[in-house]
Amino acid sequence: MTRELTIALAKGRILDETLPLLARAGIEATDDLATSRKLVFATNHKNIKLVLIRSADVATYVQYGAADLGIAGKDVLLEHGGEGLYERLDLKIAPCRLMTAGFAERSLPRTRLKVATKYPRITRQFFLDQGRQVELIKLYGSMELAPVVGLADIIVDLVDTGSTLKANGLTPLDHIMDISSRLIINRASLKMKNQPIRELVDKIEAAVE
Ligand code: PRP
Repeated sequence: MTRELTIALAKGRILDETLPLLARAGIEATDDLATSRKLVFATNHKNIKLVLIRSADVATYVQYGAADLGIAGKDVLLEHGGEGLYERLDLKIAPCRLMTAGFAERSLPRTRLKVATKYPRITRQFFLDQGRQVELIKLYGSMELAPVVGLADIIVDLVDTGSTLKANGLTPLDHIMDISSRLIINRASLKMKNQPIRELVDKIEAAVE
């Protein structure tokens, strides 16, 4: 049985909390991930390597088995759909909230509310559950700009400190769900590399606690 394991990590804010967690689990990259331009990193374990990618791509790498495991936010996992993946652990890092946000003082249109988001799947479901028809506008970042320039009435985005909303004159409105980062595993890897994955998951689980 092969013991080689690849873990996909998300660039950006999750990484700042992921690296200390992995270090507590005894896994450390041989280069500095935060400053290096490399995408593949060796670790202090001969059989474990790390790949560093966009958070929205982590689930896709793990789904196709290009990475055996991955660490990504619940937001991108829900948006991906979870096909071919097993969500094994809530790592309790990078906690934030998925919310709708808009201008507090502006009344919203009763019909055809325009909603800008990079989470069309979650957003569609949220408004469907409320029996509300909305026009979804897919964006890839800086959602806060959309209501400011009249592209959308409201946005659906992650809120952490709330300072990005505030800086753009927006107010959080509906709380959709709490978000944190999760450890995901490729379903085929879990069968083929069960023992090394179990050993690794045990170490990470202990580091979470
Ligand atoms: C996220 C999110 C908000 C911001 C919220 O963006 O999309 O813009 O953080 O954080 P705050 O409530 O503490 O201000 P991020 O910086 O992760 O970059 P992104 O635009 O690539 O999503």
